[in-house]
Amino acid sequence: MPELKKGFQVGEIQVRGDLILAPMDGYSSWPFRSLCRDLGSGISYTEFVKTEDVLDRPHHIKKKLYFTENERPVFFQLYGHDPDKLLAAALHLQEGEPDAIDINLGCPNRSITNRGAGAGLMRTPVKTARIFKKLSRALEVPITAKIRLGWQDCQNQLLIARIIAEYGGFLLAVHARTKEQGHQGEPDLVAVAEIKRIVDIPVIGNGGVKTVSDIQTMQEITDCDGVMIGRGAIHNPWIFSKLNREEIPVNQVQEIMLDHLERSLSFHGQERGLILFRKFATSYLAPYSISSEQRRQLLTQSDPRKFIQQLREIFVAAEG
Ligand SMILES: Cc1cc2nc3c(=O)[nH]c(=O)nc-3n(C[C@H](O)[C@H](O)[C@H](O)COP(=O)(O)O)c2cc1C
Repeated sequence: MPELKKGFQVGEIQVRGDLILAPMDGYSSWPFRSLCRDLGSGISYTEFVKTEDVLDRPHHIKKKLYFTENERPVFFQLYGHDPDKLLAAALHLQEGEPDAIDINLGCPNRSITNRGAGAGLMRTPVKTARIFKKLSRALEVPITAKIRLGWQDCQNQLLIARIIAEYGGFLLAVHARTKEQGHQGEPDLVAVAEIKRIVDIPVIGNGGVKTVSDIQTMQEITDCDGVMIGRGAIHNPWIFSKLNREEIPVNQVQEIMLDHLERSLSFHGQERGLILFRKFATSYLAPYSISSEQRRQLLTQSDPRKFIQQLREIFVAAEG
């Protein structure tokens, strides 16, 4: 089995490590993102923000773009469809000093694609070329892209990849599914390999990676420079340290869970921080047999101190 590559360059930026947390709206805000970075994720991608919010309601997205210096390299992700608005928004985002700005060409949600943004952009190669040309000329930071395998009736990912590389893109993350597959279904790694073969910028493979062996499969089939992990990381953030979930001792799960909770409470405030942590708590505790009553009590607890106490009791039982 070939050794995984140990990092790559995005323009002048040295990415240390080849595993990267995927941008995930509702998940990859600072608490989880910074935790994954500490566990080995090589780039901190923020959740996507839309051009109109950047330009008209910047206070709405301030929290999504918050990062700490030790997370660098930090990539702000932007979505939109209008080249001029994308340029104006990217220039605005640049003031927040990210290391790169990433354009989303992958989001399959109809509300976004109907307006020609996200995966909708993949149907308009000429516009995509215009966007990358404009942004790469005007920005001081590198511009990167996250794409997917086109649409069922328009699998033009090779064309789009070439356009992005040709018009100034520095990095391509490829979600190995079509727009119609959304986030489900078998990822097509061979299609990612084809993209990797034809562009001379780094390519990150993404889709369906849950275990260390999935990482190796992605690397073997695609020869990609990095592997991006989304939902697999929610279930197992230790994947960035190349560890499978079942390898993590109970005391380490408890330690990371409490660390994550603390980040969530300090970042979002006590009440909201606990509410937003519940979905992560469910994933952390999934491997353990916990009674439905105990689970219900924990996940409806609104006092962080009592939540931590209940959690400790659950872990004492899990260790015993
Ligand atoms: C809840 C959720 C939110 C997502 N939000 C974003 C996003 O903001 N930007 C983006 O490029 N992709 C987003 N994605 C797609 C992921 O980055 C990734 O491409 C996808 O989940 C496939 O990877 P996985 O199979 O490892 O989960 C999201 C996916 C999920 C499940």
